[in-house]
Amino acid sequence: MKIRPRRSVLYMPGANDRALEKAKSLPADALILDLEDSVAPEAKPEARDKVIAAVKSGGYGRRELIIRINAIETPWGADDLKAAAAAGPDAILVPKVSRPGDMASAAKLLKAYGAPNHTRLWAMMETPLAILNARDIASVAGDAESRFSCLVLGTNDLLKESRARALGDRFAIIPWLAGSVLAARAFGLDVIDGVYNDFKDEMGFKAECEQGRTLGMDGKTLIHPSQIEPCNRIFSPSEEEVSWSRKVIQAFALPEHKSKGVITVEGRMVERLHLVMAERVVAIWEAIAR
Ligand code: COA
Ligand code: MG
Repeated sequence: MKIRPRRSVLYMPGANDRALEKAKSLPADALILDLEDSVAPEAKPEARDKVIAAVKSGGYGRRELIIRINAIETPWGADDLKAAAAAGPDAILVPKVSRPGDMASAAKLLKAYGAPNHTRLWAMMETPLAILNARDIASVAGDAESRFSCLVLGTNDLLKESRARALGDRFAIIPWLAGSVLAARAFGLDVIDGVYNDFKDEMGFKAECEQGRTLGMDGKTLIHPSQIEPCNRIFSPSEEEVSWSRKVIQAFALPEHKSKGVITVEGRMVERLHLVMAERVVAIWEAIAR
């Protein structure tokens, strides 16, 4: 089972040298080096140069490196994509995706620009159309040439575009988050929750991490280093989950259970689908430990 933990995915402004350097020592699973919304128009070319240099120079260890480019139709988008393709990060995050064609054409451009095969594509789900088209957008992943591997929720943009109220429990946007999780799962994609802006509110942040995990998110996008540690903890399987999963795996491995579809473990019905779930929990636990 090939699993990459994506519990904590930290954004940083591409123009911020200090953040790019500091990220080398932060315990985030993935880093999004941003060229889009956190970079002012006049700083765009400079940020692009800094991000490309950071990716090329390395020093980020096992952390997954993602470059968020500007939308292709902006004055910077095409140059961003070309430069990112040449730098070959783990992934390129395409903002403001609204239709399946947006991902298909980004994949074609990446190929034309000679991006290495390991460079995958991630999509920001942050427009009303993206939510309405989530299934069709995710279905692009069915084409192996698409490089498509992950959805990222852009909750600030969704609140802006929808005019929904940003209340603490995310009442208004829960259906869109849940729909994105289903679209991702239907086509084998990972899916990462949106950011929590009030980075000094640890209680509120933890509650939102729990909510995202309950919805099925693989992790959460973050804006500040202080959010990494609680996020990693909440998106890791708990010790109880791991020990239960091991019991399920061991039970199905017993000679008398090898050919059974359903068994009892500690008084609970356990089917082979639970075995598959248990194997995933243990695999992600082991990947985290590595
Ligand atoms: N990535 C890496 N390092 C970060 C960071 C980030 N996102 N945010 C802060 N840091 C570093 C700071 O450089 C500082 O490092 P130092 O003390 O070793 O010099 C340390 O963490 C503490 O930072 P702090 O002073 O608490 O925050 P700040 O006032 O400098 O910055 C923000 C606050 C919100 C502006 C900043 O966290 C940020 O830019 N976040 C990302 C925003 C973003 O990318 N948005 C786009 C997607 S929504
Ligand atoms: Mg956005």
